[in-house]
Amino acid sequence: MTVSAPHFAAQAGTGAARRRILVTSALPYANGQIHLGHMVEFIQTDVWVRAMRMHGHEVHYVGADDTHGTPIMLSAEKEGITPKQLIERVCREHTRDLGNFLISFDNYYSTDSEENKTLCETIYGKLEQAGLIDAREIEQAYDPVKEMFLPDRFIKGECPKCGAKDQYGDSCEVCGSTYQPTDLVNPYSAISGATPVRRKSTHYFFKLSDARCENFLREWVSGLAQPEATNKMREWLGEAGDAKLGDWDISRDAPYFGFEIPGAPGKYFYVWLDAPVGYYASFKNLAAKRGFDFEEWIQPGTNTEQYHFIGKDILYFHTLFWPAMLEFAGYRTPTNVFAHGFLTVDGAKMSKSRGTFITANSFIETGLNPEWLRYYFAAKLNATMEDLDLNLDDFQARVNSDVVGKYVNIASRAAGFLIKRFEGRVQDSSMHHPLLATLRAAIPQIAAHYEAREYSRAVRQTMELADAVNGYVDTAKPWDQAKDPANASLLHETVSVSLEAFRLLSIALKPVLPALAAKVEAFLGVAPLAWADADTPLSSAQPINAYQHLMTRIDPKQIEALIEANRGSLQPTETGAAAAGTAAASPAASKTKPKTAPASDAQSEIISIDDFAKIDLRIALIVECKAVEGSDKLLQLTLDVGEEKTRNVFSGIKSAYRPEDLVGKLTVMVANLAPRKMKFGLSEGMVLAASSADEKAEPGLYILEPHSGAKPGMRVR
Ligand code: MSP
Ligand code: ZN
Repeated sequence: MTVSAPHFAAQAGTGAARRRILVTSALPYANGQIHLGHMVEFIQTDVWVRAMRMHGHEVHYVGADDTHGTPIMLSAEKEGITPKQLIERVCREHTRDLGNFLISFDNYYSTDSEENKTLCETIYGKLEQAGLIDAREIEQAYDPVKEMFLPDRFIKGECPKCGAKDQYGDSCEVCGSTYQPTDLVNPYSAISGATPVRRKSTHYFFKLSDARCENFLREWVSGLAQPEATNKMREWLGEAGDAKLGDWDISRDAPYFGFEIPGAPGKYFYVWLDAPVGYYASFKNLAAKRGFDFEEWIQPGTNTEQYHFIGKDILYFHTLFWPAMLEFAGYRTPTNVFAHGFLTVDGAKMSKSRGTFITANSFIETGLNPEWLRYYFAAKLNATMEDLDLNLDDFQARVNSDVVGKYVNIASRAAGFLIKRFEGRVQDSSMHHPLLATLRAAIPQIAAHYEAREYSRAVRQTMELADAVNGYVDTAKPWDQAKDPANASLLHETVSVSLEAFRLLSIALKPVLPALAAKVEAFLGVAPLAWADADTPLSSAQPINAYQHLMTRIDPKQIEALIEANRGSLQPTETGAAAAGTAAASPAASKTKPKTAPASDAQSEIISIDDFAKIDLRIALIVECKAVEGSDKLLQLTLDVGEEKTRNVFSGIKSAYRPEDLVGKLTVMVANLAPRKMKFGLSEGMVLAASSADEKAEPGLYILEPHSGAKPGMRVR
């Protein structure tokens, strides 16, 4: 068999050949908002991309929304819109967020595209030809009410260990034990509440257990950049002869939002098959727009490079399935996969209730500068898969002292003198000052740290240099030099060296702070800075422009506002919950100190109209109403909400109403509340009632009733 050469790209020093590089970030799911966890990855990738572009390489950075699968299909259904409408809206939001954080994608696309469909079909066809696709009947949990097979995360029930109710099929949030969905006691479908049954269906498999795949992967993993990743892979692969790799189930039954498998009606490609192909679909779309040859990039033996930045939770998909798919479809394989760790905030998993599940949009809306976050993440990121903590106190301290206090400060100290005393022109002879030679020599080292994804080293080295420059200024004391006209030349030297040093530091920070760098370029009157410009000093021929404030400090009030804006009554989205779940940092509640008092009942947080629109309120006719045997709180209501079937709802209003008084009345119900399995049966919604905050002091309870004329099923908004 042929194995693609492992993946060490030629090291480019200065003057090296122009490399051609495709870079991706993982495709975020299209049913949740971009949060700061995602931003770790986008910022990590973007810094790398920008650093590589500064070498003059041809770099294409592509991304897309990951739009297929059951959760997205169900989210759309809950909102009463089509999946296409949902993914279009979310894609607009994601594009806005990515733009705000200066993520420099060449193309941001969707996996629900023509290009992706065609590529998936081609790859699948080639795998079939290679004898690597198998059809087999399997048995799975099926929801007889919703009439669909249930992915594991849609099966809930009682924990087999501690008996806690409403736990997911894989682990218990109360006692922390892990198990199989089949172990759950009294399992129910999280979609309809029905008890799942076992049912058979034909599924398609990618035969990863085939010796060809195993041999290929064993070889391929040896070229991975991260030893931790190689070790993980070796664990999954086991020793030769262990045959540890199972076949991969790549089909799902209708109803499913995705691409139908050619020649298999009613069967769809599993979202994780079409998602990585989505990288190529986005790239192909870009190639068509820019007029370059996509095919050339994906042929085996191409001299182009391909890198995927991902989180550690999705390593498996990128280091097993994806390279094997590519290899046996006859394409090139990734040059490398770079995995990062998970974000925690103040030492704990991001949490809605603590307000630390921070969305990218809230960060911007609160008026925080995205480059502050880019700087902070860069200052902490390295090439490993270690988790990364956003400590909010440290965030303020670090940005204020480093970026503003050390770096920006150099320009603000020097610019005034140069403009007032020397027409904004530097002293050419001082461009050879030894301090500047030190800085220039450091630039290639800093560039290499970026390429090696050791951003924290790049930032640390840059800040050490900034310290040296500030030390130089403190010793020279330009404010004293300025007092005596005899020292004019010395003063000219001091501020010229300072400004050239500032220019060099700006080159070093440009991958991290691109908007600030653009302001600096305008201020210095120079062309966009690249690594090679380290050797082209400022010149008296080009006067600098008036200094304008480059960056402000973080105000602690902004951080408080950010936490408040994210302290939500909203549940994490499916994707958010899943991702955060994987982060699984220790609960570490003790380490987290709340910055503000918990939100009181009296004052709810402000929600957007979009949040409100998620609640489907309907006029309901109470068709039947009876007491519930064995309960002194509940009434059982049969509600007509204009649907084919009536709904069954249990409501805790027995203390306030006699059942017969309610029959025939209209009320308002929440129609899209997840059904709840109760001791007495399934409750399919909730009726709205008013009560005072302190029910004990004032026991009144009043259900809502619309003005006459309202009809069952009408939407309330
Ligand atoms: N849709 C898949 C990826 C398909 S790639 C062909 C997915 N989406 S995701 O929205 O859940 O996550 C997108 C990326 O963000 C992943 O690389 C994931 O690891 C990363 N992160 C999500 N939450 C994160 C943190 N809390 N911290 C750091 N990265 C996180 O997985
Ligand atoms: Zn438990």
